[in-house]
Amino acid sequence: MNTPTKRRLFVTTALPYANGAFHIGHIMEYIQADIWVRLQRMLGHEVHFVGADDAHGAPIMIAAEKARKTPQQFVADIAATRGAYLDGFHIRFDNWHSTDAPENHELAQDIYRALRKAGLIYTREIEQFYDPVKGMFLPDRYIKGHCPKCGAADQYGDACEVCGAVYGPTELKQPYSVLSGATPELRKSEHYFFQLSSPRCADFLRDWTHSANAQGAPHLQPEVLNKVREWFTADEAGHGGLADWDISRDAPYFGIEIPDAPGKYFYVWLDAPIGYLASLKNHFDKGQAARHWHVPSRTGQSFEQFMDDPQVEQIHFIGKDIIYFHTLFWPATLQFSGRKTPTQVNVHGFVTVGGEKMSKSRGTGISPLRYLELNLNPEWLRYYLAAKLSGRVEDVDFTPDDFVARVNSDLIGKYVNIASRAAKFITQYFDGRLGYFGATRELEDSARALANDVAASLDARDYARALREIMAHADRINTAFDAAQPWLLAKDDRRRGELQDASSRALAGFWSISVMLAPILPATASRVARELFGLDRDFLWDDAATLPHHVRPYQHLMQRIDPKQLARLFEPAMAPAPEPASAATHKATSTAVAPPKGQAEPATPTGTVSIDDFARIDLRIVRIVHAEAVEGSTKLLRLALDAGETDAHGQPRLRNVFSGIAAAYKPEDLVGRLTVMVANLAPRKMKFGVSEGMVLAASHDDEKAQPGIYLLDPYPGAQPGMRVR
Ligand code: MSP
Ligand code: ZN
Repeated sequence: MNTPTKRRLFVTTALPYANGAFHIGHIMEYIQADIWVRLQRMLGHEVHFVGADDAHGAPIMIAAEKARKTPQQFVADIAATRGAYLDGFHIRFDNWHSTDAPENHELAQDIYRALRKAGLIYTREIEQFYDPVKGMFLPDRYIKGHCPKCGAADQYGDACEVCGAVYGPTELKQPYSVLSGATPELRKSEHYFFQLSSPRCADFLRDWTHSANAQGAPHLQPEVLNKVREWFTADEAGHGGLADWDISRDAPYFGIEIPDAPGKYFYVWLDAPIGYLASLKNHFDKGQAARHWHVPSRTGQSFEQFMDDPQVEQIHFIGKDIIYFHTLFWPATLQFSGRKTPTQVNVHGFVTVGGEKMSKSRGTGISPLRYLELNLNPEWLRYYLAAKLSGRVEDVDFTPDDFVARVNSDLIGKYVNIASRAAKFITQYFDGRLGYFGATRELEDSARALANDVAASLDARDYARALREIMAHADRINTAFDAAQPWLLAKDDRRRGELQDASSRALAGFWSISVMLAPILPATASRVARELFGLDRDFLWDDAATLPHHVRPYQHLMQRIDPKQLARLFEPAMAPAPEPASAATHKATSTAVAPPKGQAEPATPTGTVSIDDFARIDLRIVRIVHAEAVEGSTKLLRLALDAGETDAHGQPRLRNVFSGIAAAYKPEDLVGRLTVMVANLAPRKMKFGVSEGMVLAASHDDEKAQPGIYLLDPYPGAQPGMRVR
């Protein structure tokens, strides 16, 4: 094809936090990268595609503690879940590692020493909130309080979600620790800084972000560069511009120790991208080990040799939320520690579902694991996402109807359809032999031209464009085949030549298209190559411009999507249903706390419910992290509840719940206690804010005659997030 020189590629995706299972956003990123990597491999280039778990940081340390595991055990348990997703969606990393692995400890410390030697590290004392109960400094995300501007309650330490004000955590009114509910104290501590604001760094970054790489392509997409430009420029007041980067955290912290600085650890974002190198090194070292044992080495060289080759391209795939780290901190870290800087940082947008931002805690979004469990074809998702990925930083919306329509019309109606129709004639009348009558030159030339275009689009990550071209070609093939009226030709013995020619040309088209779809549909393409055309290997890109000469009897290649099957993906996940007999006949003994004004009183239960009905109610143990009176209401308390949930970034997420228990409990008596919440009650907008759940309590049938409200109190040992069933 048009890239005669063999590229040497080091490709990564962002390293996912090891505190949760993969969500559909992760899977999209891996599919995007995997398609690109498969294309490069088919073109004959050398690719090393690696990932790893991002193991460090306060959220993971805290999540591990909650789960009563060591952080090491906690991240190992998460790591053990990765394979099922990656295999399930045909995502083929060469290596998967961890930022807590020895390679990363060593590399991070080496890089730090080099930065220190370059004179870019200094220390400064800073003042920060400290949780006296937990005995640790609190990251901003773990401090909440009232907005200093509008007074809204339960706002994070960086910005107010109600009025939009931006401030520092120390400005919050009535601050409290999300971890313990305690009032944090200001304490001083010495921190290590990377001097990003130094002219050396600023000059380098300005140049790197704006310049082209060795291949003549920009390091960054235009819209990413625009964003980065904003970060460079200070406003008139001198705010903004590149600020020095605080790279240290105090013990207790799950991370890598800073050399010569007892009790200090690298901030997770310092060692996380170094994990790219650690995973690559581990991959090469395994190859070396293999050679040592007289097994052919996977790579034949060392990590250091590879990284020293100026021809090697280092390519990162990431989402739009982590641009700052990858376009400023990371290139600077590499440059000033004397290492290769990234060749390209490819940024994608976010997955939305039905136009909405996905939220793990509210149960929206698509569970990739459930997708696989429902036996939905992983290649449908690969195709659908590819058809929506343009190489720009745009969000990608998953809409169920669109998904069904797209896959059924393109993959079944246009693509698979060609083979199922044409192969039958060749099998039935020509014993599997293809025959082309007249010139085939044009057939090969047009396939070659198309394959070149498609390769260029895929290489530029404009998968949407590539698929438009491929499907337009499928339309042409179908049209030509229909125009030949093969069903009529088949009835006429004297026109067998025409039948063979028309069917062979259709199959040749199918062959070429299968080659071009192989990066996106690797399993189907492999079956087409091996089972349908009898190749003893998978397709290579150059096969696109060649002609097949034999075909085997057509075996079913791909099912249409049944919308009902897809609908199950969006049903709320149910708990495994036990025997329905007894549980359902008991009358519920606890009644819901009287709902806040304006919310309908739940009817007294009559009749029975099935265990399935009961299982639809998601009851969870929660910890009351914060409680306060609600101004303008004598009945309500506002509660901040920890249900063991995290947001898409692994940060703890608290539920804001209004509860009519003010008459029975003082706010300060509730903080720290466990109780039970209905977690999947539709959020309700009230005068005072949105209520995101309901806590359960007992009361008499006739509350007026016999007042008294009693919150449920689980036995010791129950943990926030546990399911009650
Ligand atoms: N651990 C950091 C990355 C360190 S890289 C040295 C991190 N982890 S993450 O698990 O939160 O995100 C991993 C990747 O998933 C990021 O590229 C992020 O942008 C991407 N996505 C997270 N949510 C997403 C969507 N909803 N849609 C698409 N990608 C999204 O950040
Ligand atoms: Zn505010």
